[in-house]
Amino acid sequence: MNSASESVIIALTRGRILEETLPLLREAGIEPLEDMKRSRKLVFATSREQVNLLVMRGSDVPVYVENGAADMGVAGKDMLLEYGGEGLYEPLDLGIARCRLMTAAPRQAPETGARLRVATKFTNIAKRWFAEKGRQVELIKLNGALEVAPAMGLADAIVDIVDTGNTLRANGLEPRETIAEISSRVIVNKASMKIKSRLIRAILEQLAAAVNRRSD
Ligand code: PRP
Repeated sequence: MNSASESVIIALTRGRILEETLPLLREAGIEPLEDMKRSRKLVFATSREQVNLLVMRGSDVPVYVENGAADMGVAGKDMLLEYGGEGLYEPLDLGIARCRLMTAAPRQAPETGARLRVATKFTNIAKRWFAEKGRQVELIKLNGALEVAPAMGLADAIVDIVDTGNTLRANGLEPRETIAEISSRVIVNKASMKIKSRLIRAILEQLAAAVNRRSD
């Protein structure tokens, strides 16, 4: 095996997921050589010469990994469900950044039977979910501040991530149905898994051990 096949690039999701991923990576013997949360850099060398880290938005992680621009990645299940890539392995649930993807609507809003207008950034997930339920909805794609859409008359309901529920409550909304339980997952490019099998499997085993120690 040549040296190129012995190195991997791991794409990480910035923000809360990054904060919760770094301790697990550290336990797996992978420590960035500089502070990823402070630096403006996007590529980081690590304590393990064969491993480099990238940091980006969660929605971009599966794009990098499916196309082989990164060998591995860490992204929320919400991003993976929305992306829907078939070209990815998802071998490990890190059990971090847990939350739920839910529908929510104004408190006590009655079900009218009229066609619902649903605001979300997760249009693919919402489209599949409402179609499976046989419910016809009009999806309105937003990129943030979803929770204010019903009060402003833009939508009747939303599909969004719910953690503590504080954001819903603060905007007069209540959770309705759970679409998916979310946590962060490790994904692997299919070709990389074959070509760099030894290194990737070793990293996966070390990460799995770190995750198991958490749940002991
Ligand atoms: C997420 C989500 C909600 C909020 C829910 O946003 O979109 O707005 O967290 O959390 P809560 O139930 O604890 O109030 P986030 O802050 O991750 O930013 P985003 O809008 O960029 O997704």
